[in-house]
Amino acid sequence: MPAYAVIGGQWGDEGKGKIIDVLARDAAVVARYSGGNNAGHTVMNQYGTFKFHLVPCGMCWPETMNIIGNGVVVDPDVLLEEIRLAEEAHLPGRLAVSDRAHLIMPYHITMDRLQESARGKNAIGTTGRGIGPAYVDKVNRTGVRVGELLDLEDLLIRLPELVDAKDTVFTKVHGADPVDREGLFEKVRIWAAGLGPFIQPVEDIAGRALDNGENVVLEGAQGALLDIDHGTYPYVTSSNSTVGGTMTGLGIGPRRFGGVAGVFKAYCTRVGAGPFPTELSGELGETIRQKAGEFGTTTGRPRRCGWFDAVAGRYSVRVNDFDTMIITRLDILDGFETINVCVAYELDGERIERFPIDSAVLERCKPIYEEIPGWEGTTAGLTDPDQLPADARRYVEHLERLLGIPASIISTGPTRDETIIIRQLM
Ligand code: IMP
Repeated sequence: MPAYAVIGGQWGDEGKGKIIDVLARDAAVVARYSGGNNAGHTVMNQYGTFKFHLVPCGMCWPETMNIIGNGVVVDPDVLLEEIRLAEEAHLPGRLAVSDRAHLIMPYHITMDRLQESARGKNAIGTTGRGIGPAYVDKVNRTGVRVGELLDLEDLLIRLPELVDAKDTVFTKVHGADPVDREGLFEKVRIWAAGLGPFIQPVEDIAGRALDNGENVVLEGAQGALLDIDHGTYPYVTSSNSTVGGTMTGLGIGPRRFGGVAGVFKAYCTRVGAGPFPTELSGELGETIRQKAGEFGTTTGRPRRCGWFDAVAGRYSVRVNDFDTMIITRLDILDGFETINVCVAYELDGERIERFPIDSAVLERCKPIYEEIPGWEGTTAGLTDPDQLPADARRYVEHLERLLGIPASIISTGPTRDETIIIRQLM
């Protein structure tokens, strides 16, 4: 059996965690390939409720190996805490961290915050977790890789030079304090002791599982529209959250793929700055936010809420080659008399159906909506497609038509059971 990628189709927070937890039952390996602890994946099952930021969401299945791939940036403090929580809850999954993933150092977190405040009104609204600066160092070839923790002596010789460079920028450019060197060296020793047993080359783990005919689930983080190349730049994250990132971020090839699923909320949300054509800034947006609890898993920030954007959705299908969609949070639309779906934009007086990827242009786009009837009754907790109210089914069919791909799973609540499987993915 093949590798199956599960990728956010919008601006993140599509509810991928729950979906991965459901799919992991049939997977030998679940692997994160991009991002870091800017992600917050919520999983609810018999073990409890978990908000994983780094640890993959297959941790709750006994047969599953969970991999943090080389494309991920790892804050060891966060990872060690998640490992502790997983052990405390007796989660049965196993964990391996790529020796070539890059470390988020405390100076990356400081840099993220200094840069954001220097941007003023042009701030990106990052999660403040040091993600961008860690990727900058990776690309600049001044990063520290997780595997270096296995050779502490060498790392402690190399670190002062890296810290000197940060100190220059902190003190001379930002007028901030220099790095706390002793604190950093102490942390590095703790990280090496705690993470050592989990560090290894991981390509072989995924590759061998695939050779053996087992399933590998590739756990997307953030969403396609936050991708560094394909997203609404510069209001994006610093990694490839789209399907391309799975190959570079894990070390598997395209012939291994069985499919690529796009996870879409039944409406849309966005956290941080950047264009969002279907945003509902008034009472309706607030109603959705409160009903759905749309507050960031990582930062607690209120998420911006809006109607489903099929123009952006089609673009996501294009850049990921999604073959199916997974619809989440359908139950949040229960009780709406009518529901809007954005089918095109008006740009400078003209109707367009393509997604303008230039943020300044997208900012000028106004949504053109189709109003469709809501449904009576509830979809919350449903498990069978035949139980769906007729108008809810029509809404799903409408999204399928607009995006040109069939839906395979509909999530109707936060727990594993509250799931409609239309067609098995793997
Ligand atoms: P960064 O990834 O912390 O650099 O943040 C860059 C942008 O991506 C900001 O707008 C964040 O709010 C957004 N972002 C990063 N991770 C997530 C996520 O997991 N869900 C939703 N938005 C995210």
